[in-house]
Amino acid sequence: MTVIGLVGSGRAEGNTNALVGRILEGARSKGHEIDRVCLAELKISPIGDCGACRRAGRCLIDDDFDTVMDQVLASDCVIFGTPLYFYGPSASMKAFIDRWVCRMIIGDEQGFRDAMRGKKCLLAVPHQDTRLSGAEHLLAMMEKTFEFMEMAYLGKIQTVAWRRFEVGQDEVALKHAFELGVRLDEMAGIGKATGAVTFSFARADVETSGGG
Ligand SMILES: Cc1cc2nc3c(=O)[nH]c(=O)nc-3n(C[C@H](O)[C@H](O)[C@H](O)COP(=O)(O)O)c2cc1C
Repeated sequence: MTVIGLVGSGRAEGNTNALVGRILEGARSKGHEIDRVCLAELKISPIGDCGACRRAGRCLIDDDFDTVMDQVLASDCVIFGTPLYFYGPSASMKAFIDRWVCRMIIGDEQGFRDAMRGKKCLLAVPHQDTRLSGAEHLLAMMEKTFEFMEMAYLGKIQTVAWRRFEVGQDEVALKHAFELGVRLDEMAGIGKATGAVTFSFARADVETSGGG
């Protein structure tokens, strides 16, 4: 399987990157091909006036979106990594997802939907809030998006981290992130593949809940 990790944080060496990187390491240990894209290092503009693009018959935004989108479409599994920013995803992750509309209204919508349908995906979310509920709107937004696109949502890792290297020093979070990557094949077969495997830590050292 080809697994791509999208890192939606401006901190290249930050917590999101550590989680995504560890999941990818787990996947590689099982022979999967891996790739990582740091969205903030690329130019992915917010969506513009779709009507103008439709009239022109092509997307008028000239940036890196198509390159990343094509990488995602060529992958069997996508890890969506984003820090929690004001109860939602980072702007770079949201901009990337919003731009899917560029493929849906201008190009071959059915072809795009067909390519996304059944594509495996995972979520990786660090946040400062020590209550897991702090991320509920972000999780709901992402999970609804996966559902809308009929993607195969395998599971998530949600952990508390604030400073840049916290996840990198959090053995529990790193262990479970690695395990998510190791278990990719197995998770694909769980139930209806709707977030069946979950590792969430209110405080990594005291409270751990896992399943699947
Ligand atoms: C602009 C901004 C908004 C944030 N909003 C929240 C928030 O609403 N809730 C929260 O728990 N943490 C919030 N945080 C903290 C980050 O989610 C946390 O530091 C995370 O570990 C950062 O991940 P990174 O190292 O990959 O950038 C915010 C941080 C920033 C910079």
